[in-house]
Amino acid sequence: MKKRIFSAIQPSGRLTLGNYLGSIKNWIKMQEDYDCIFSVADLHTITVRQNPENFRKNILETYALLLACGLDTKKCIFFIQSHVREHSELAWILECFSPVGDLSRMTQYKDKSNRYSENVNAGLLTYPSLMAGDILLYDTDLVPVGKDQKQHIEFTRNLAIRMNGIYGEIFKIPDAFIPNVGAKIMSLKDPSKKMSKSVESDATIGILDDEDIILKKIKRCVTDSGSKVRFTQGSLTGINNLMTIYSSIKNVSFDEIEKEFENDGYGKFKEQTAKAIIEKFTPIREKFSQIMKNKDYLLREFENNAKIASEIAARKVKLVREKIGFI
Ligand code: TYM
Repeated sequence: MKKRIFSAIQPSGRLTLGNYLGSIKNWIKMQEDYDCIFSVADLHTITVRQNPENFRKNILETYALLLACGLDTKKCIFFIQSHVREHSELAWILECFSPVGDLSRMTQYKDKSNRYSENVNAGLLTYPSLMAGDILLYDTDLVPVGKDQKQHIEFTRNLAIRMNGIYGEIFKIPDAFIPNVGAKIMSLKDPSKKMSKSVESDATIGILDDEDIILKKIKRCVTDSGSKVRFTQGSLTGINNLMTIYSSIKNVSFDEIEKEFENDGYGKFKEQTAKAIIEKFTPIREKFSQIMKNKDYLLREFENNAKIASEIAARKVKLVREKIGFI
């Protein structure tokens, strides 16, 4: 039996280099060897107010862009979360087993309720219960994510263990799968902060950014006062961030990078890093514009995939309903 993989991404803006290196890159690899299910997590995104027209566009573009990145529906199931009603149904049930104390201690809840202080809604608080449902519906073994999602996976594990304790074996206990390099790509302007897709600016590289923009952003990104291309363990410097990006894209170690750029300053290294990103993203951008021209194909793909995911999800919800005592 192959291990089951589940992961998802929010259509909350244009996907970034951080999303790619922290998560998508692993999805593409894992679909070759594992039983993979991936999703565009649109239900999660309405915890922040969305303009309906933009939102529709973002959902479709996120779906298309992940196909362009290399998700292949012959090798994995790839659906849009809100098309599979079981996600909402299980989320409600799980909310009733989620301690408010645990929810309110989540880093993302604290961050977002500060950032969107005019709209601190209940969904922002119960977000991890919805995410736990996504994972637990599919008997997931491994969840490939970046470091920022680790706390949510811990929450999912605790919730599953708690419910299994009450009702007997309902859920498989999942593990996070976090890459050694690239699990947290930092902002190009402030390397102490995460690169984030909801803030589009010079601090973030989008997968769809064109070549000139990528080059300009990397050239202008913050480094530090030194000049040598050297990795300093444990420090949040711009050069560490660039080396992490280069290492993850080119699959080379920090030692190898230091040797390669032994006689060069930051200027040359930045140029080569931009080149590596451009080489990776140009074919993706081209494929994306092709896919976006074929709306019928996209519709067919996400409809078929939602049907397949629903069949699996419905079996789990049926079991949960029985265990809880619904008639
Ligand atoms: P989201 O949409 O914020 O991010 C998608 C994936 O990208 C990773 N990521 C990063 N990795 C490295 N560096 C960064 N700067 C960076 N920014 C984002 C995230 O860790 C994530 O893996 N709640 C999730 C979506 C979700 C989900 C799920 C994930 C919903 N249900 C079930 C796993 C399983 C989120 O908001 O990811």
